Amino acid sequence: MIKSRQRFLNGGYYQPLADAITTAVNNCPLGFGQNLLDIGCGEGYYLEQLRNAAKSSNASLKLLGLDISKAAVRLAAKRKLDAQLVVDSAYKIPLFDNSIDTALSVFSPICPEETARILSTDGFLLMVGPGEEHLTGLTAHIYEQHQPHSGNFKVLDEHPVFDLKEQIDVKTGITVKGPDILDLLTMTPYYWHTSAEQQEKLAALPLLTTPIHFSLRIYQRTPF
Ligand SMILES: C[S@@+](CC[C@H](N)C(=O)[O-])C[C@H]1O[C@@H](n2cnc3c(N)ncnc32)[C@H](O)[C@@H]1O
Repeated sequence: MIKSRQRFLNGGYYQPLADAITTAVNNCPLGFGQNLLDIGCGEGYYLEQLRNAAKSSNASLKLLGLDISKAAVRLAAKRKLDAQLVVDSAYKIPLFDNSIDTALSVFSPICPEETARILSTDGFLLMVGPGEEHLTGLTAHIYEQHQPHSGNFKVLDEHPVFDLKEQIDVKTGITVKGPDILDLLTMTPYYWHTSAEQQEKLAALPLLTTPIHFSLRIYQRTPF
């Protein structure tokens, strides 16, 4: 799953999301002069995008990444991002209270209490989940009817410490080239719902056109 994700993301298919994330980080009051923890950073694609954006602005963005998967963190380390990386859980973050300016979570589990603990007062949480139309061109090959993923927003919206400031919808279309189609399937939870026959059919497609739709929510931590 992690290797598929890395190959697919390196193909640039989710560049519009990466751009929206780097812009949102730069728009925070401290801009790229802050420290940021990517919770569930996977193999480090978004950390690398942030590092590159900060470098082009000559900014001293301090990057930290955490993931429960040792294999993912190993791949992230190979990106040589000048970031501090750790294998640990989003439910037990090995950082001091109030030590992070911005937390990022892209399609990863989030623990509101633990995230609030490590964030500075007035710190930001950028949370990305799937929008309604995300990958409907892929799911049309799997389900009779598209079943959108609910994302992890509910736990945050119910939490008094996080104040939703803005929601940015990133929506466009992509055409995925043959060999990348199986990588796309493998990196999503839909993989577990496909039969061997469906996987073979998808693998045989020369191209797959699909909407991609992300919701990027910007929360601010309020005092507690
Ligand atoms: C769908 S992947 C997203 C990875 C990365 N954010 C991206 O978008 O490329 C979810 C990630 O969450 C990690 N993960 C799952 N449970 C976790 C936990 N309890 N704490 C930290 N990371 C976790 C997985 O190892 C995986 O890398």
